[in-house]
Amino acid sequence: MKILIINGPNLQLLGTRETKIYGSLSLDKINLTLTKAASKIKNISIEFFQSNHEGEIIDKIGTAKKEKFDALVINPAAFTHTSYAIYDAIKAIDIPSVEVHLSNIYKREEFRKHSVTAPASIGVISGLGIKSYEYAISYLAEYIKNN
Ligand code: DQA
Repeated sequence: MKILIINGPNLQLLGTRETKIYGSLSLDKINLTLTKAASKIKNISIEFFQSNHEGEIIDKIGTAKKEKFDALVINPAAFTHTSYAIYDAIKAIDIPSVEVHLSNIYKREEFRKHSVTAPASIGVISGLGIKSYEYAISYLAEYIKNN
């Protein structure tokens, strides 16, 4: 079973970007940790995609079915708060998804408190750092097995 993990704009800067909020791990380090964690779950493989471009993210979501992904973990980053197009893309593919955020978006600036993309996913995990991704992966692994 294959899980696609998509990270949106500026997340390539993790490790140096606002470390008090996002932590000091680089995206490569995070991905390595997630790969290790996922390898402990039976029959699960994960693949990563990061882009700063809304259209590229939409294109990637759109190929998820053709590329035989069974589930999606997505951190749309700032597009969370603006992108009806990403919301539509997630709805269109009809595979289970979980939205994740490293930071607690409800504890920050007003504009971050609303996610326009969240209703396209089964649920949202926000504010647990890298654990947001880990829990999303293990939830989806179980979800796929049971559905
Ligand atoms: C984020 C939260 C967003 O508001 C922000 O624009 C990001 C990262 C998070 O993971 O906490 O880039 O999605």
